[in-house]
Amino acid sequence: MRRVTLTQFLIEQQRAGRITADLRLLIEVVARAVKAISVNVSKGALAGVLGEAGTDNVQGEAQKKLDVIANEILLQANEWGGHLAAMASEEVETVHQIPFDYPKGGFLLLFDPLDGSSNIDVNVSVGTIFSVLRMPPGGAPATEESFMQPGREQAAAGYAIYGPSTQLVLTVGNGVHGFTLDREMGSFIYTHPFMTIPEETREYAINASNARFWEPPVQRYVEELQRGADGPRGVDFNMRWVASMVSDVHRVMTRGGIFMYPMDEKCRARGGKLRLMYEANPMAMLVEQAGGAASTGRERILDVLPTELHQRVPVILGSKAEVERVVEYHRAH
Ligand code: AHG
Ligand code: MN
Ligand code: MN
Repeated sequence: MRRVTLTQFLIEQQRAGRITADLRLLIEVVARAVKAISVNVSKGALAGVLGEAGTDNVQGEAQKKLDVIANEILLQANEWGGHLAAMASEEVETVHQIPFDYPKGGFLLLFDPLDGSSNIDVNVSVGTIFSVLRMPPGGAPATEESFMQPGREQAAAGYAIYGPSTQLVLTVGNGVHGFTLDREMGSFIYTHPFMTIPEETREYAINASNARFWEPPVQRYVEELQRGADGPRGVDFNMRWVASMVSDVHRVMTRGGIFMYPMDEKCRARGGKLRLMYEANPMAMLVEQAGGAASTGRERILDVLPTELHQRVPVILGSKAEVERVVEYHRAH
């Protein structure tokens, strides 16, 4: 079997005119950073990377040591390449400018350096999520305003999952492609071409401890799933919740299902729980590219016009028919 590496895959995408050399380099650099994060994650207690960093991020959340390490790795790896105008990170309050002595480029990179941090210390899969936007013409130097583009404008999006194997799942707007890290070779191998989300599903993911805070349409939907074969759906459903969005979405990508972090009374004041720019948008692009759907319940996630970098939104994504059903329940309510 011919083994295709990420590098080969990207060169072929460039030759086919789907990406520019700059975007190819950008993705290569992100992939290199992901390998470094993967090494740190897998060393765990041996490298002293577990536990609290003792600091809070901009959103008042306690940072884990690995949140800080992963953030540093991504910032440093991407600063000098010359393809970026600026970066934005879940762990950084304002726009991260490219140091003045490095060349600047035409892309904006956004990331959640370590997703699912609550799982680090219990040795459960975590991930990295990233999104690439184009710098608006004539906008230099980049400001927060430069990032205020709806998710449908993303040039690329992807995530890495640090699980039993490390995988990189990527879209440049031409389907979703998965790569597995060959640890001995240090390269990503193209193992999952054109990933698609099965239409039919019997699996859902939601933090059910929030049930009493949900809005009526979500309560109705989940109740119907729970009634299974005895309810209006006529079949039994299964539930999974890893509490790392990357892991939960990766399962949906692999075998279908629906993932929800909907609006609830606990997160209403903040607009939702998950972050639009670092979590919802990249995942929504991937899910749509894989044939699924992604909505806030009220509108397509990729159409949400951001007003601030750390904005949050409700997220309902996965198998199309299920997402459409939840949206329909919102409309009917
Ligand atoms: P992060 O670790 O980047 O802050 O993200 C955590 C998110 C997401 O990964 C996950 O789906 C969700 O928070 C879990 O929330 P609960 O703790 O409410 O289950
Ligand atoms: Mn996250
Ligand atoms: Mn995070």
